[in-house]
Amino acid sequence: MIILSGIQPSGRLHIGNYLGAVRNWLTLQEDAANACRFFLADWHSLTEAFDPTTKAAQVRELAVELLALGVDPERVVFFRQSDIHEHLELAWYLTCVTPVGELERMTQFKDKTAHGESPSVGLFTYPVLMAADVLMYRTNAAEPVHVPVGHDQVQHLELTNDLARRFNNRFGATFPEVQPLLTSTARVMSLKDPTRKMSKSHGPDHCLFLNDAPEEVERKLRSAVTDVGSPTSPGDMSPGVATLFSILEAFGTPDEMAHFRAQHANGTIKYSELKPAVARAFAEYFGAFRESKRALLADPARVDAILAQGAERAHTLVASTMQAVRTRVGIR
Ligand code: TRP
Repeated sequence: MIILSGIQPSGRLHIGNYLGAVRNWLTLQEDAANACRFFLADWHSLTEAFDPTTKAAQVRELAVELLALGVDPERVVFFRQSDIHEHLELAWYLTCVTPVGELERMTQFKDKTAHGESPSVGLFTYPVLMAADVLMYRTNAAEPVHVPVGHDQVQHLELTNDLARRFNNRFGATFPEVQPLLTSTARVMSLKDPTRKMSKSHGPDHCLFLNDAPEEVERKLRSAVTDVGSPTSPGDMSPGVATLFSILEAFGTPDEMAHFRAQHANGTIKYSELKPAVARAFAEYFGAFRESKRALLADPARVDAILAQGAERAHTLVASTMQAVRTRVGIR
């Protein structure tokens, strides 16, 4: 299978990024039959507020974190979007077959602009650049491209298919179908407000970062919300408790999980025992990651070399798509 996915640099990776995306990447790269292309969507990240003096470091830190988690640059074409200028060129050809109304329907755009700020054209055309990212890595018009993403990105992939069809109708069969590979994981909810999705925009204590030191993880979990209001009856699970269980399920042992589940079912559970157990499981799971991250941050030349190699490989891959597209459009 051809597999393509990108992730935006916007700060350190948190548990939602891991369970919703990166964990899936790591599984997919294991299968030698998969041709994986994973990239850092640094151009996409310019559609959000950002600091130009720290952007490059942020992109590098994301590269480091992904490598430390186990993304294998020998098996995967691992690159930085802005190293491959062809993404912008393809985005332009696609822009020219995109109806304005299709972009106006994008829920992510509507959500991000719901608060009355005047959006940039970049935010508006973000999904077209994403379509270019994906369609670029097709090998022909028949073999689908698979895209591991979270549910929030499905509408963007539907748009990608729509744009591929419009391009093919106008200029001849060029792009195949795109298929999402959805993760089965439920959304991870905020520690302090478990009715909302975990997101660092609500504040750092709402969110577990993969890089958090064990004491930090323990502190955040200590203040995590469990039961609010009147005590729930045995077996009835509040959203906060469900969040703790979902973290334990992902990172703890099956025995621990069974132990606390049984206690919860018969009403004897003590959150003062569950919370440190969840904290320990999480911090231990990412112990090796924290170590590798430190080592890679101390070796920038190695990270540069990996990204340079990725850029070279990606360049080779995009050549045939771009040649076909330019010819079909008639510009060359
Ligand atoms: N929009 C994606 C997100 O926010 C990131 C992304 C950009 C992407 N280009 C992509 C994901 C191409 C998959 C394929 O998560």
